Amino acid sequence: MALSFSLITFSLLILTTAIAGELPVTGELPEDSLIRQVVGGGNDASSLDLSQPHHHFSLFKERFGKSYSSQEEHDYRFEIFKANLRQAQRHQALDPTAVHGVTRFSDLTQSEFMNEFLGVRTRLKYPSHANKAPILPTDELPLDFDWRELGAVTPPKDQGGCGSCWSFSTTGAMEGAHFIATGKLESLSEQQLLDCDRECDPEGESDDCDQGCQGGLMNNAFEYLLKAGGLMLEKDYPYTARNGRCRFDKSKIAAKVANFSVIPVDEGQIAANLVKNGPLAVGINARYMSSYISGVSCPLTCSADLEHGVLIVGYGSAGYSSMRKEEKPYWIIKNSWGEYWGENGYYRLCRGYDLCGVNTMVSTVAAAPVTPH
Ligand SMILES: *[C@@H]1O[C@H](CO)[C@@H](O)[C@H](O)[C@H]1NC(C)=O
Repeated sequence: MALSFSLITFSLLILTTAIAGELPVTGELPEDSLIRQVVGGGNDASSLDLSQPHHHFSLFKERFGKSYSSQEEHDYRFEIFKANLRQAQRHQALDPTAVHGVTRFSDLTQSEFMNEFLGVRTRLKYPSHANKAPILPTDELPLDFDWRELGAVTPPKDQGGCGSCWSFSTTGAMEGAHFIATGKLESLSEQQLLDCDRECDPEGESDDCDQGCQGGLMNNAFEYLLKAGGLMLEKDYPYTARNGRCRFDKSKIAAKVANFSVIPVDEGQIAANLVKNGPLAVGINARYMSSYISGVSCPLTCSADLEHGVLIVGYGSAGYSSMRKEEKPYWIIKNSWGEYWGENGYYRLCRGYDLCGVNTMVSTVAAAPVTPH
């Protein structure tokens, strides 16, 4: 599933959009706001000295197998890299319970990052037309909960350079629902959604329709699955990170939607639905994820503009980064940027602060049994 990063064609965009601040540029950063660089394959981090950008760029190129087609391209990417180091430092100052630093995205402009690695198509809002999930009791929820430990979650996948996050969020929720309905964990096909789902947001603009690598919405995809009949297995319809011709084969449906509903804007209801119904499809703002390495991300300011589709698989009562002492409750979020991003493919976002829009577009899906042909 891992897509070789060097296959991605970079387009030369003007640097202006690169780092221009969604964040206040703080002139003086706290003295201990070191930023970290992942040095091995895991989550170990060492501090990053901003006075050595060439050195860090060399490490970055080696670690992520980067090569550039010309000296000009190389120099252009180095300029972006340096700006992204400064952005990671700002993220670190504003998000002290997480560790920020160099990631696979560190030579990309912000618009490249958004176009190639996110993929929520429209300005998301609470989908008022959809079924509402009933209000559940929240007083007897476990303190910590993780669907990974219960076997409902497949290993992290990699969307590659394709704005298909929404399809991974959808398959993740379906994989969990199918596991709960049948006791079987099966990896389901994103590519079917990329190639075949052109469902439109009934509340959206005329072009708010699912469009493969150009983006989509999880609720549209659930609606498509209801109409189409179901979802094929990953192995029967494998991921290519490209839009293609629809090759859906009804006789190979492996998972079916029974119904889906949206969860009230309330983190208690999100937790209750997670525990009762399985992993949840959720839209979030991904700005801090571009430099995230580990820890509980709890930025002092985070936009609620939803731009990325991911999967809530659990929560914890208290966690922090290895560097910091302040503990925060958190959500455990499965991403689709491969197992080497973040905490083995996962993100922890602090819980109880309505942060980064995490509470505003959450959906739960139930699976129906698949009757053999
Ligand atoms: C959704 O489907 C599940 C599984 O078939 C069922 O138990 C549940 O009652 C349904 N929910 C709604 C709101 O129809």
